[in-house]
Amino acid sequence: MVSRVIPVDPFDLVLFGATGDLARRKILPSLFHRFQIGQFDAATRIIGTSRADLDQKGFRELTADAIREFGQEENTTEEEIAAFAELLDYVPVDARGDTGWDELGKHLREDVIRAFYLSVGPSLFTDIADRLSASGIATPDSRIVLEKPFGHDLASAQALNQALRAHFQEGQIYRIDHYLGKETVQNLMALRFANSLFEPLWNSSHIDHVQITVAESIGVEGRGEYYDKSGAMRDMVQNHLMQLLCLTAMEPPARFTPNAVRDEKVKVIEALNPVAPDDIARGQYRGKDGDSYRDHAGNPDSTTESFIAMKVEVANWRWAGTPFYLRTGKCLRERVSEIAVFFRDPPHNIFEGAAGVHGNVLVIRLQPDEGITLRTTIKDPGPGGMRLTAANLDMTFADSLPGAERPQDAYERLIMDVIRGNQTLFMRGDEVEAAWAWADPIIADWTEAGTEPQRYDRGGSGPEDSLLLMHRDGRRWRGIGD
Ligand code: BG6
Repeated sequence: MVSRVIPVDPFDLVLFGATGDLARRKILPSLFHRFQIGQFDAATRIIGTSRADLDQKGFRELTADAIREFGQEENTTEEEIAAFAELLDYVPVDARGDTGWDELGKHLREDVIRAFYLSVGPSLFTDIADRLSASGIATPDSRIVLEKPFGHDLASAQALNQALRAHFQEGQIYRIDHYLGKETVQNLMALRFANSLFEPLWNSSHIDHVQITVAESIGVEGRGEYYDKSGAMRDMVQNHLMQLLCLTAMEPPARFTPNAVRDEKVKVIEALNPVAPDDIARGQYRGKDGDSYRDHAGNPDSTTESFIAMKVEVANWRWAGTPFYLRTGKCLRERVSEIAVFFRDPPHNIFEGAAGVHGNVLVIRLQPDEGITLRTTIKDPGPGGMRLTAANLDMTFADSLPGAERPQDAYERLIMDVIRGNQTLFMRGDEVEAAWAWADPIIADWTEAGTEPQRYDRGGSGPEDSLLLMHRDGRRWRGIGD
């Protein structure tokens, strides 16, 4: 197969939190894979930093172990890992103290792109940004990369944006929402804006409603302390589900450029109606033998939701009258992320007496089995008159494009976009703030009312209230894992 890899310019990437979980699971294996396929070469430097008292050799070993454990490539050789390790260096740096900053500066070159990846807790974002600036390490072309949470409400998000913008221009700040790096999320834009079939139908005249589901089968084991202060609304809806909603609902941008795309997304968020408490179902998983949410969170009185479903209205010409139902939760039946677009029934059924027409549903599957399915109504084959049945036009990308490279991990794509200087798939500061401005009053409502989330069993499809939310509107959720 001809390689479609476009090499990027040499860069120095400084990875703060280099010994942490995210670095080991995602960032280092992703960098390795892009090195392995030839996207960058030996002129690149990856400099790990953290408080840990490691040296270059120790960091190289840690990285090699991470690639062996978390890398996705089956055909990795020890030679390739060793070649990648040659690019790695390590400088112990104290994010809140003076130690290590001068030394870090000495490791950076003048004439290559500088990227600072803050794979650290949010409480360190501002300290590191301040010190990068004060030490003179950050240049006007440097990029700073951060990952959510970007604040826990509007005020803290604004404070963070201000602190970052004291040293960096917006065009240097790369806020990662890893959902935007997923192949199918990008495919949603290709589907909508590179085909003429869907866009004329993409409005409330033709679409009855949209369901966006991000269901996980795992719980919050190991992350309970963080999660209990956050809950599904802050952890998933304000960011990942909001991004999926934006890409589904936005107007076509004039060009596929970072600000044109992000301008359209902000308009969607700003068009969202406030969500009434009746339009929300919150849940918390229960379980036996130390396996409930409260056990995992280490908080026997927790009222944090591990599940949330809500009905959201985009109040503009295109979408008035077409609700978007969002749903996400932990410990559900299966791991499924999808956007399901339910088209309206045909205006008139000529097949009287035949079994019903099955409305068209376009399902964009993010995971597993990335692909697109369109439910259609066809004649049930064989004798028996004109009987109708539902059948899917199904395109699983792996089957439709055999020989294509494996879907890349979201981080691979995003890190390379940082180096390329392309912010299209990153959240702009105003986008983050708009999402909090929408989320804050919703959270305030249930906090003030002191409502408890409804308990649901592990391995199911969430609390009863979530089903009722749909039934009330004469609709049903798609089954999780259907
Ligand atoms: C993270 C959340 O941002 O996304 C986690 O903090 C969640 O709680 C994860 O499990 C889901 O990501 P993915 O890519 O596995 O769907």
